[in-house]
Amino acid sequence: MILAANFKMNHTRASTRAYLQKLESIDKGDVALYLFPPFTALDNYDTAVATIGAQNAYCAQSGSYTGEIGLEQLEEFGIKTLILGHSERRHLFGESQELITKKFAFFKEQGFTIFYCVGETQEVRESGSTELIYSYIEQQLEGIDVAYEKLIVAYEPVWAIGTGKTATTEDIATMLEFLRTKTKRPLLYGGSVKPQNIAQILQVPECEGALIGTASWNVDTFMTMINIAK
Ligand code: G3H
Repeated sequence: MILAANFKMNHTRASTRAYLQKLESIDKGDVALYLFPPFTALDNYDTAVATIGAQNAYCAQSGSYTGEIGLEQLEEFGIKTLILGHSERRHLFGESQELITKKFAFFKEQGFTIFYCVGETQEVRESGSTELIYSYIEQQLEGIDVAYEKLIVAYEPVWAIGTGKTATTEDIATMLEFLRTKTKRPLLYGGSVKPQNIAQILQVPECEGALIGTASWNVDTFMTMINIAK
């Protein structure tokens, strides 16, 4: 079981330290924990409780890429885990499939564990056409090596992210079954996962964990979910 906390643009370096200190008190059982704090909190943490990853990075060692973080900066902090294809990168910051594919190839070459996100928009979901939803997701997998041994795929319907709307367990099951036809790698669900729904979500066949935003930002809430998952 995998539980990943995506802090997005929340928490500071100091509050991430305090969060980790508290998290270290947990007996996480067999749950593999991942924490994705903002760049400024990608410290040299000496912690065994969770793997620390970056929410984004540019596909170069270093160079003239104003505002970006590359391999050199991640390596300094021992970061070898990365989220790519998150809907907020795709839709708020205009990342194209072409750019995401380039990033994927670069960080795969560097041996990174990659949490790769896919998920349809509300418009596509409301079309009511399963075929349209599937082809939308297929486009998001274009150029991605779905057999990469350090790939973790997160199904995150855009309409369920940060909205409080969770996909039904039937919807999640259908989409994970579809993704299972594409890759043998672990499949996660993300989108308004919280203590009240995590048990049902983790019982969905093919679901090997969750990528959690909002409900992970409070360490006590995240720990509650770990206790449910383990
Ligand atoms: O990366 C996490 C997802 O965007 C889910 O966010 O739990 O706030 O809906 P959320």
